[in-house]
Amino acid sequence: MARPAHEVTTRHLGAAYPFVAAGSLGTAGVLVGRDLCGGAFVHDPFELYQRQVVTNPNMIIFGQIGRGKSALVKTYLWRQAVFGRRAWVVDPKGEYGQLAAHWGVTPVALRPGGTLRLNPLDAPSRAGMAPGGTAGDSSGSGGEDELVRRRGELLCALIEACLVRRLLPSERVAVELAVQSVSYRRVTPTLPDVVAAMLAPAASAAAAVRTDPATLAADGRQGALELRRLVAGDLRGMFDGPTSPGLDPGGPLVVLDLSALYQSAALGVVMTCATAWLHAQLAGRGGGSDSMSSGVLVVVDEAWALLGNLGVARWLQSSWKLARAWGVANIAVLHRVSDLAAGAESGSAHRELAHGLLADSETRVVYGQAPGEVTQARRMLGLSSTEAELVPHLGRGVALWRVGDRSFLVRHVVGPAEAALVWTDKAMAAAQ
Ligand SMILES: Nc1ncnc2c1ncn2[C@@H]1O[C@H](COP(=O)(O)OP(=O)(O)O)[C@@H](O)[C@H]1O
Ligand SMILES: [Mg+2]
Repeated sequence: MARPAHEVTTRHLGAAYPFVAAGSLGTAGVLVGRDLCGGAFVHDPFELYQRQVVTNPNMIIFGQIGRGKSALVKTYLWRQAVFGRRAWVVDPKGEYGQLAAHWGVTPVALRPGGTLRLNPLDAPSRAGMAPGGTAGDSSGSGGEDELVRRRGELLCALIEACLVRRLLPSERVAVELAVQSVSYRRVTPTLPDVVAAMLAPAASAAAAVRTDPATLAADGRQGALELRRLVAGDLRGMFDGPTSPGLDPGGPLVVLDLSALYQSAALGVVMTCATAWLHAQLAGRGGGSDSMSSGVLVVVDEAWALLGNLGVARWLQSSWKLARAWGVANIAVLHRVSDLAAGAESGSAHRELAHGLLADSETRVVYGQAPGEVTQARRMLGLSSTEAELVPHLGRGVALWRVGDRSFLVRHVVGPAEAALVWTDKAMAAAQ
């Protein structure tokens, strides 16, 4: 004989079965899909940041190829548009064209030898770079010196990525002095200016470090030759001049299509330049917590290409820290947790960096991972043993969301009108 069902309110049920299912994150934000423990799953990084559920609005999405990471990002951005949020996307596979078309914008397609240029050394608008920053502004936008420091940091990271090693102190100084001298000569210097200044340093630059121009030139020569790739070598015609007129960084969506370089070993370098340009545009958009309400989502899809190098990963992390003050939520898409600490070098510096980036991204979305990845994923993301067991078995579209210290198992639902936005199987089939 069947026993009568036991009925109880969810509040009592929560007390009867504690720790089985968490309460939802609330209803403010965009609908992602179904919480598999019941109910709808709604998420908004800015809202959660304001409610102090998370201490930063950044997100990292992990998952094997084809699990639905990009599909999540595309629908997430599209749904956020309803709330007036804007999105900037670094798109290494050239797969955000449909989304751009829905939004009525054209992706910015960069190709070596092409005509469109972005200057990664662009200065943020004056508003974002008031000398010394505004009172209470923790963005670190401390005027001209800060801008020069950031430019130097970017170029050192790029050179380290190309040379696949750490720079020597003398090499670093050669870069910094070149950036300094060109930044004081021109409001918006370009990469060719910096390369020229490194190959033929000014006497004053050499005097600043008690050496002669020939020695300083020798110190900077290898770095200059690597940067020259972006100016006169195989990567020319994308980042080697003033930003092309007519690019509208104020538009609702900016997609930087880098697919011409997807197969290139230099993809990480190109993505770094593109991201640097995006951040420079964003830095001028004011700061403070108010900007969270009109937040911008900055997506770096296939971010593993960028994070493989320690120097670039460090630069990205410091950019993320600044970005919080600009009202930006960063979204990085990776294949594996180990992508965070991948690269030629290993050891404590990488581990520290990986932990730092994770600490700076309090929304972590974990799609299916290979069984070999689970131990590391568990340790780095603080998964419970049940969650860790689940991770290799998650099907397409299902992910474990860690938001702050809470977990949700979520099936991402793609609406009929969104199917065309997310469909990448054809492109994947063609690429094989
Ligand atoms: N939640 C989902 N529901 C239905 N189909 C999905 C879902 N997520 C992804 N897909 C489909 O799976 C394919 C691969 O998804 P994609 O987001 O490109 O994978 P990834 O970025 O993880 O490599 C796409 O063709 C997409 O249409
Ligand atoms: Mg993808």
